[in-house]
Amino acid sequence: MKINDKKLKTETNNKDKKKLSKSKFPKGFLWGVAYSSFQVEGKIENNDWWRWSEQRKTKDKVGKACNSWNFYKEDHKLAQDLGCGGFRLSLEWSNIEPEEGEFSEEALKYYKKVLQNLKKRGMKRVVTLWHWGLPLWFADRCGWHNKESVKYFSRYCQKVINELGEEIDIFLTFNEPTIPLNKGYLAGVFPPGKINPWFYFQARKNMIEAHEKCYRLTKKVFPKMPIGITQFCNTFETKGFTSFLLDKFQDFYNWGFMKKKLDCHDFVGIDYYATFEPHFFPPSLKRKTTKNRWTDIGWGIYPQGIYNICLDSYRKFKKPIYIFENGLADAEDKYRANFIKEHLEKLHQAIEIGVDIRGYFHWSLLDNFEWNLGYEPKFGLCKVDRKTMERTPRKSYYEYGKMIKKKRK
Ligand code: BGC
Repeated sequence: MKINDKKLKTETNNKDKKKLSKSKFPKGFLWGVAYSSFQVEGKIENNDWWRWSEQRKTKDKVGKACNSWNFYKEDHKLAQDLGCGGFRLSLEWSNIEPEEGEFSEEALKYYKKVLQNLKKRGMKRVVTLWHWGLPLWFADRCGWHNKESVKYFSRYCQKVINELGEEIDIFLTFNEPTIPLNKGYLAGVFPPGKINPWFYFQARKNMIEAHEKCYRLTKKVFPKMPIGITQFCNTFETKGFTSFLLDKFQDFYNWGFMKKKLDCHDFVGIDYYATFEPHFFPPSLKRKTTKNRWTDIGWGIYPQGIYNICLDSYRKFKKPIYIFENGLADAEDKYRANFIKEHLEKLHQAIEIGVDIRGYFHWSLLDNFEWNLGYEPKFGLCKVDRKTMERTPRKSYYEYGKMIKKKRK
């Protein structure tokens, strides 16, 4: 796809108000939903996040989550009815390798069944190898800050690729590695609960190495499989003299895992939620980004941000882009449908000027366990009654469905 770089530069503050209804997305564009094992499966007791929640370092205990371990067929049906062509989920390392070097045939069989069911329903399987929960043996004896982590993680990856590789369409080694690194090693609010910059840098280095190793070993078996990571991207619309430093920070924050070895990334995975700009910023630092729209957990709604990040990524890396997460905590479903529509409009504008964007996955299909914040934030297109586990679509679920149907060719 040819990109007009000059236009790209001037379009960052695009005033072009083309409406999505008039626009088609490219053929083969993947529409989807996303969730992760620990946040929905339930009864994952052998990992560090379970322990963290048992120790009441999270607002609620995770318990049975959404019991997707048993209700996965319902989840898949909801996604299929929505019109999704893709479904993003993660594998739980502690289920697959409960003890060091001992792999559970039962868990591998289970995940195979889940992935095959998605295929049967016509959805591409986007599989994340690690979405934050670590088996206790690894958390206690090793951790990411230990060099051995590369060996252990790539052995887990090799097993998954050998046993489940046929059932994976797009492979993500890591979900947002910067988040557990920052929160787990600098702020101490995620496991392993450390405040240790030295460990942080070691862990970061090891994760980059682990990604590269997994990339290569996977390509040996499945040379055509698209592999990458997905990153938590933020946008901080800066002005004034602070802007240079803030831009550098933003660059490190968004693309820190991309810079080194571009040959180990077939695409750029972007998870985008909000602008960095919190309410409490003084007006001198603020741009009118959010139009004063805030989600239930105080994140500023800013659709232009997804456009800016896609352009920034494409200019820097010239790699295809997937939006693997985008969503909001909105219990009353006040903003969600419009939020999706506005973000899709921005994506469409970026596509129109030549940015190669290949998919959009909404976070999340269900109200699920929101890490430290427990069950209070409601990110779901569907509500979950946590007693009966019944899933009830919100209005925005149907609205998103309509958008997909209109835009899918
Ligand atoms: C994570 C999800 C999380 C979502 C909303 C992302 O950073 O990948 O696990 O639920 O944000 O906070």
